[in-house]
Amino acid sequence: MDPYLRDVLDVCIRMLHVIAGIAWIGASFYFVRLDLALRPPKERGDAEAGVAGEFWGVHGGGLYHSRKYRLAPAEMPEPLHWFKWEAYTTWLSGFALLVVLYYLDADVRLVDPQVADLAAWQAVAVSVGGLALGWVVYDLLCRAVGARSQILLAVVGTGLVAIAAWGAGELFAPRAAYLQVGAMLGTIMVANVLFVIIPAHRKLVAAMEEKREPDPTPLLRAKNRSVHNNYLTLPVLFTMLIGHFAFVFGADEAWLVFVLVAVLTAFIRVFFNFWHTGRRVWWIPVAAGVGIVALAVWLEPDTPAPTRTDPVSIAEVQGVIAERCATCHSGVSAPLGITFETAEQIEARADDIERQAVLTRAMPPGNATGITDEERDLLAAWVAQRG
Ligand code: HEC
Repeated sequence: MDPYLRDVLDVCIRMLHVIAGIAWIGASFYFVRLDLALRPPKERGDAEAGVAGEFWGVHGGGLYHSRKYRLAPAEMPEPLHWFKWEAYTTWLSGFALLVVLYYLDADVRLVDPQVADLAAWQAVAVSVGGLALGWVVYDLLCRAVGARSQILLAVVGTGLVAIAAWGAGELFAPRAAYLQVGAMLGTIMVANVLFVIIPAHRKLVAAMEEKREPDPTPLLRAKNRSVHNNYLTLPVLFTMLIGHFAFVFGADEAWLVFVLVAVLTAFIRVFFNFWHTGRRVWWIPVAAGVGIVALAVWLEPDTPAPTRTDPVSIAEVQGVIAERCATCHSGVSAPLGITFETAEQIEARADDIERQAVLTRAMPPGNATGITDEERDLLAAWVAQRG
């Protein structure tokens, strides 16, 4: 694809994806906190009319009063607002972004021959298949185990996430591996909305319209899945943002890092969910803080001592960069606007070059330009000699 067209599509779809994602997650967080903060209704008439709980909030210049019905009010309210297009738009735009950036440019972005020597079409097939497989396995697991114990489901589910993260790390370029796992979990979340939550709501509304007692089973299942989505949100956001941080996605045990972060974020959700019910469980953020510091210490990249000791000239550095980096990092469509065309530009970014090409080896992506270890060593020696 023409690089400029790709940039324009990237900007437009990414904006849509982020905005829809904010709308979806915002609504989801709002309803979770609403649900947890519900208090028994004060008015006796409300309780008799089937109100299970009420919530008062102040926002945007006024007081709001929300009530949750045990099943539904006697009369069908009009208009009744649904929450689904935020979720669908987030998934559709996310998938479009995956196609434009990772599938159409699979050679460079999805495949890393040092990880697995897949043809571009094979990598794309595995990636798409993985999205579908993730949902099928999760849904079966929920049906098999979820009804018995949500704790057991969480344990087995975490094990499966670990397998998925490890598998993605064995198949895809490191940056793409994280995105693949995030896309799998995001697909599970949206499929929960499409296949479980919305159908349950449709049944509820249909029963009301026919003046029947609604069946509570699908509603309970919908509630469960909505709680799962709540816990999946933070790990998914982590995978979406972590592409900027090569020390994480490029770590040797990147899959394990993801699993630990997913568990950590689950605890952070638990803290907030307690908070909304009025309980303050302070050991959770303290333990999470300790966990984050421990991860940061563990992930600090080693600074290898350069083996080359004789002085490195800037001309030599320019030679390596011209051959191994400038194919991408030059001209108006250079990634992040980072160009290495002149000695000044290279000097100004010496630390970034060391971080990306020596410490994390994130650049060149998938070693697309075949940089050698001697050349990385030359860059390391040059940065060390600059002092
Ligand atoms: C195949 C194309 C390609 C090649 C070759 C390449 N890069 Fe990059 N580089 C990229 C892309 C794409 C990004 C943007 C990554 C992102 O969006 O975060 C990037 C980002 C960077 C960044 C900024 C990273 C950050 O997030 O702050 C640095 C520094 C960098 N590259 C250095 C290098 C060096 C040094 C080389 C050569 C050893 C090199 N690149 C070779 C494609 C390339």
